[in-house]
Amino acid sequence: MVLITGGAGYIGSHTASCLLDAGHDILILDNLSNSFRSTIDRLQGFAKTSTLRFVEGDLLDRKLLDRLFLEYSIKAVIHFAGRKSVPESMQNPMLYYQQNVEATLNLVRAMGEHGCHRMVFSSSAAVYGDAQAVPVTEVCPALPKSPYGHSKLMVEQVLRSIASAEPQWCLTILRYFNPVGAHPSGQLGESPRYPLSNLFPQLAQTIAGEAGPFQVLGQQYASEDGTGVRDFIHVQDLAEGHLSALSRQQPGCQTYNLGTGKGYTVLEVIAAFEQVTGQPVPFEMAPARAGDIGCLYASVELSRHALAWQAHRGLNQMVEDYWRWWCSSTAYGTPLRGCS
Ligand code: WQD
Repeated sequence: MVLITGGAGYIGSHTASCLLDAGHDILILDNLSNSFRSTIDRLQGFAKTSTLRFVEGDLLDRKLLDRLFLEYSIKAVIHFAGRKSVPESMQNPMLYYQQNVEATLNLVRAMGEHGCHRMVFSSSAAVYGDAQAVPVTEVCPALPKSPYGHSKLMVEQVLRSIASAEPQWCLTILRYFNPVGAHPSGQLGESPRYPLSNLFPQLAQTIAGEAGPFQVLGQQYASEDGTGVRDFIHVQDLAEGHLSALSRQQPGCQTYNLGTGKGYTVLEVIAAFEQVTGQPVPFEMAPARAGDIGCLYASVELSRHALAWQAHRGLNQMVEDYWRWWCSSTAYGTPLRGCS
């Protein structure tokens, strides 16, 4: 059985569906702090030849972790659970060090004590900060600009230290670039409890007439049109990357970028939304966001070779799947809009 922490969340739920499709039995542990029980109910539909168990609980609950490792035969862990908002981390850093770092220490302790030594860990391109050069490779210096990025890097360092001290551990660190899109079935997508400030949801809100003109944050970056550049990756490609990572784990601790290797500017993403939705996007230029990175996209050479994996869904498909989910998400009672 594979334990998926944070499996009711955005990337976690897509990865859970891939594992179920591939015949893995899974146990999801999630405190539902930024996700909904209804996602678990829909995931059950993917469990055809395999089983899905769900436990609502928190990684800070050490007794619960001991109970899970005693009760279930857990051979590997995919660890998504944590907080992921850069601005929130600037305002409340302790929340990030507690829920991202302390919670992971609890998990790793329980794993070690119960003889489970395989983990795939959700890290982030946020560890790079302002990369000196793009595409950014895994050996580029990691200089995070936010407590969120620092919390991810701290966990990475813990995992690397454990792997070098104890050879039985097989640890894989995946640094995600900008996950977007939704499951092509329309059954899964991002269902947060809090409003999102990211590019895709902001654009969707403007197009749906639920917000004023979209604000392009910063026009002086070193890109073709001056707007920020990101490596958007379809969440389903990202999920498939986890399956590859899990099946190719080796002793030690390896770190891989998961991106497409291609960057798009904010204006290019606006154009893709206009094309896919057939609606104009009213936008205005606005000052850059504090702490924002300019241009960041991944070198994907290492993940392509070592994981035998690459992203293949393009920007238009990311927008199509995202927009379909956006338009239908209220039907599931987990509205992106209002995020109640
Ligand atoms: C992308 C671009 C903005 C909103 C995210 C997550 C972070 C981490 C990495 C997981 C930038 C511009 C945005 C808007 C805009 N994820 N923009 N108007 O900054 O890369 O951060 O990915 O680890 O948790 O927050 O992504 O989608 O916020 O911004 O012009 O209203 O869109 O300035 O250039 P970012 P984003």
